[in-house]
Amino acid sequence: EQRAFVMIKPDGVRRGLIGEIVRRFECKGLRVIRAELMQVSRETAQIHYGHLSAKPFFDELVEYITSGPVFAMIVEGCEAVANSRSLIGPTNPQDAPPGTIRGDYGLDVSENVIHGSDSADNAAKEIQLFFK
Ligand code: GTP
Ligand code: MG
Repeated sequence: EQRAFVMIKPDGVRRGLIGEIVRRFECKGLRVIRAELMQVSRETAQIHYGHLSAKPFFDELVEYITSGPVFAMIVEGCEAVANSRSLIGPTNPQDAPPGTIRGDYGLDVSENVIHGSDSADNAAKEIQLFFK
């Protein structure tokens, strides 16, 4: 058993994909044990994406993630981190195969619908950051 932090990004919320995405996690066998529609502050965005602060797209990324409400979730189950990321698919929707969330619902890396933790350590940090 493990926990992952998963967040439907503002484009996914705007497009009405919350139900479809939650359904996929539930069908897979992962449990949504906490969820909240929330506005991400600039400060939280800068902490969450701190490892990307030197990238040329950092300001655009902070603008994007704060552009509207996100649907933040704690997902629990067997290998929740790896299983979430396999449902989500590769970072760039152009590389993400059909059947994955980014493959089915995304077009471009700058708006890729959803975030999932990349390790158990980062999952714990992200859960703390978003759910205090
Ligand atoms: P997350 O689950 O969101 O963390 O994505 P990831 O783990 O698949 O990728 P990574 O952590 O390397 O990048 C974090 C986020 O930065 C991505 O999900 C994208 O939203 C954004 N990003 C990455 N590369 C680019 C880029 O070249 N341009 C823009 N605009 N955004 C990017
Ligand atoms: Mg990442």
